[in-house]
Amino acid sequence: VGAYDWNGAVLKETRHGKVVPPKSSYLEEFPEELKNHGAYLGYTVNSVVSAKGRQLYVAGAPRFNHTGKVIIFTLRNNGNLTILHSLKGQQVRHSKRYK
Ligand SMILES: *[C@@H]1O[C@H](CO)[C@@H](O)[C@H](O)[C@H]1NC(C)=O
Ligand SMILES: *[C@@H]1O[C@H](CO)[C@@H](O)[C@H](O)[C@H]1NC(C)=O
Repeated sequence: VGAYDWNGAVLKETRHGKVVPPKSSYLEEFPEELKNHGAYLGYTVNSVVSAKGRQLYVAGAPRFNHTGKVIIFTLRNNGNLTILHSLKGQQVRHSKRYK
């Protein structure tokens, strides 16, 4: 969660080493203009297998724009992270941490 000024990030451990997707992978869902918020992407991470047998990952960003966001994505061993779906929270969470 602390990566990229608390925007957060994900990485994958494989037999051949760590796979670290480029920062640009997140730009569409986590736009630059919100970077000072610190989305905490990666606070939770899980994986599921789709009906077609594809390995998908699910990660939460509880502080995204005050309401939180969950992304579902694929992450290939070449570092290609593709976000397939995202869900935004609806409830504003008040906390002293917010500026
Ligand atoms: C962030 O939240 C504001 C206020 O609810 C909203 O207007 C804006 O569209 C949101 N931005 C993103 C990228 O979700
Ligand atoms: C990553 O994968 C997506 C979906 O398969 C593809 O459209 C995109 O071109 C790939 N990007 C790179 C940099 O390989």
